[in-house]
Amino acid sequence: MNSYIKHHEWLIIEEGFHPEYNRASESIFALGNGRMGQRANFEERYTGDSLQGSYIAGIYYPDKTRVGWWKIGYPEYFAKVLNAANWIGIDVEIDKEPLDLAECEVEDFNRILNMKEGYLERTFVARLTNGKVIRVRAKRFLSIADPDIGAIQYSVVPQNFNGEITFTPYIDADIRNEDANYNEKFWDEVCKETHKGEAYIVTKTKKLDFFICTGMMYAFHKNGEKININAVIIEKKKYTANKITVPVKKGEDLVINKYAVNVSSTNYEKSQLLKEAKSKLAGAFLKGFETLLKEHADAWSEKWKESDIEISGDVAAQQAIRFNIFQLNQTYTGEDERLNIGPKGFTGEKYGGSTYWDTEAFVLPFYLSTAGPKVAKNLLLYRYRHLKKAIENAEKLGFSDGAALFPMVTMNGEECHNEWEITFEEIHRNGAIAFAIFNYIRYTGDKKYLIDYGLEVLIGISRFWGQRVNYSQVKNQYVILGVTGPNEYENNVDNNWYTNTISTWTLTYTIESMDYVKRVDSEKFKQLIEKLAFNVTEELKKWKDIIDNMYYPVDGETGIFLQQEGYMDKEQQLAEDINPGERPINQNWSWDRILRSCFIKQADVMHGLHLLEDRYDEETIRKNFYFYEPRTVHESSLSPCIYSIVAAKLCDIQKSYELYLRASRLDLDDYNNEVSEGLHITSMAGTWLSIVKGFGGMQVRDNKIYFKPQIPEQWKNYSFMVHFRGSLLKVSVSNLEVNVFNLSDQSVALVLFNKEYKLRGNEEIRIKVN
Ligand code: BGC
Repeated sequence: MNSYIKHHEWLIIEEGFHPEYNRASESIFALGNGRMGQRANFEERYTGDSLQGSYIAGIYYPDKTRVGWWKIGYPEYFAKVLNAANWIGIDVEIDKEPLDLAECEVEDFNRILNMKEGYLERTFVARLTNGKVIRVRAKRFLSIADPDIGAIQYSVVPQNFNGEITFTPYIDADIRNEDANYNEKFWDEVCKETHKGEAYIVTKTKKLDFFICTGMMYAFHKNGEKININAVIIEKKKYTANKITVPVKKGEDLVINKYAVNVSSTNYEKSQLLKEAKSKLAGAFLKGFETLLKEHADAWSEKWKESDIEISGDVAAQQAIRFNIFQLNQTYTGEDERLNIGPKGFTGEKYGGSTYWDTEAFVLPFYLSTAGPKVAKNLLLYRYRHLKKAIENAEKLGFSDGAALFPMVTMNGEECHNEWEITFEEIHRNGAIAFAIFNYIRYTGDKKYLIDYGLEVLIGISRFWGQRVNYSQVKNQYVILGVTGPNEYENNVDNNWYTNTISTWTLTYTIESMDYVKRVDSEKFKQLIEKLAFNVTEELKKWKDIIDNMYYPVDGETGIFLQQEGYMDKEQQLAEDINPGERPINQNWSWDRILRSCFIKQADVMHGLHLLEDRYDEETIRKNFYFYEPRTVHESSLSPCIYSIVAAKLCDIQKSYELYLRASRLDLDDYNNEVSEGLHITSMAGTWLSIVKGFGGMQVRDNKIYFKPQIPEQWKNYSFMVHFRGSLLKVSVSNLEVNVFNLSDQSVALVLFNKEYKLRGNEEIRIKVN
């Protein structure tokens, strides 16, 4: 844990220059706009420790898998979101000495992320070895009003000299992914153009032929007046720049505004990229920095109007939840159904920017409630479009007849994970994808989705479960052997309770969905059955038999659902007994020791009790919670949020709050000592759920939305907003009352503290709670 970020309601603040935290700060202060992302690297040269990172959504590289001994079934490649051209770079020289914060004395250093308006600002005073002192202010944003555009305002004020300042704004496409398997560079230059005042490079990926055109323009101002200065053109391989030397006097404010564009062949014709880049950039240049920033800030203000959570009385919690909402909205805007949400978004290279089960299991509910059904539907369609590949994935592993195994890690539907031993066997992801269909329909009421797309996916997944189980003659029951559950600190286990449970849940839901579609659209049903060559008698019989005869491991003595068979044979210890110096255990213990221990990385049984809460009575949930939570080390960012939600359901509000705070400040306080690798974007959605579902007690059942709010004692009040069936509700909670305001014109069916209401548009309900 490393808490150097100052608490503030709307700002993320780092005070003082801490080179040792630089990589962490580069993640925390990262910017994105759904189409591109940028770590908080410095504009000027920096020779200290840094991970330079500019990423463009949907642009990836199939990096050939690297393993010692190849086994059949390994994915051919691990997909990597590509570190793309550095467009933020502006080298600065003061009387010919390069400005490099690793080489000079730095004072008054501040880095601020303004979440309300969506920009990053950095200020500092630097004394170079030549004795010259400058004050610098650098501000930048990636526009959400025009997501191909980024802009930087970089100001230098000499403090103790008259002299010359040289700026070299550049685009550098000679970039390498730090995590490249064979240390290769993934980009080739196609062409470039450099003029005085503007420059462009078109690059293409060595495989898959993604093309990007990156361009820049710039303008200078001295003391607020525009100045024109002659530039020298510099060109190198995959690099283009202008070098401009400006005479300045002590106290003068010299500003360069750099405008950049990134357009890619995923959105524009390859042959038109240069033309598009030029026209977009000319438009941005004409508007100028302040206007672009205003448009961007206005767009953020619209987003906040529908997704903000306000907490009063606890600045740390307020800052954290806004940070999480901000980062989610920076990562995925839901406009492009080809895109998804990587566990680290655009803030680092780990997890390759690929799609994991995280999307369905954690992120979908956030977008369902804060962005309306279209965005959530796009996330489901993403998987629907990958169904064919999911069937091929299953075939590669020996399954047949339309069985679909969705990948644990993917860019285009193909499995492309990097850690075979763990992720390969996490077949539970198929359950999360099925559950997401149920969850979407339950929330939106869009049952047509089932007819048009959902049922086909469900049948593919159910066929997989139907073949993946085997019948144990010893137990006289069906079993699922050799899996990894959500808890990745156990590999290749038998009868993981969660996997067995979610598999039969899926079979049941698929059968119900088949009945529904057959009833409401028999023609479509018939066509689907024919298309899939579905044997209604045989396949359904087998599925029903599995549902009736699945084995679920349960501890005979306590009745606790066993995470997997044999879990109780492990030496039973509690996480609080681990020497604090050995936490996190994944950075201190051998893998062998971790696998042998009873310690749990993340919610596993608890994930099932969370998803399927309606099936289990409170006593069952309670018993399992208090057994598993003390054994859980929460070394996945996805863990504390789920436990926090369940704790709130059990009215253990203190425990729920502790877990919430840990989940929500995981990155800001670097709990697991790894934020340098990037932010935990997908778990941020879990944090949002901790408030809305946990403290707010939100549920959707029978076409009604339920709330049963509680408030942690640390808070004076809090409020959140959710879209539900065309209405927008604001729920405000204090110690004294709960208020639900319908901000829309449309009435809504709602249940508040077990009492049913029909809340008309623009009306509110107030309930005294104390
Ligand atoms: C978790 C997985 C998750 C992955 C990506 C791992 O640490 O154990 O459940 O899918 O991170 O977030």
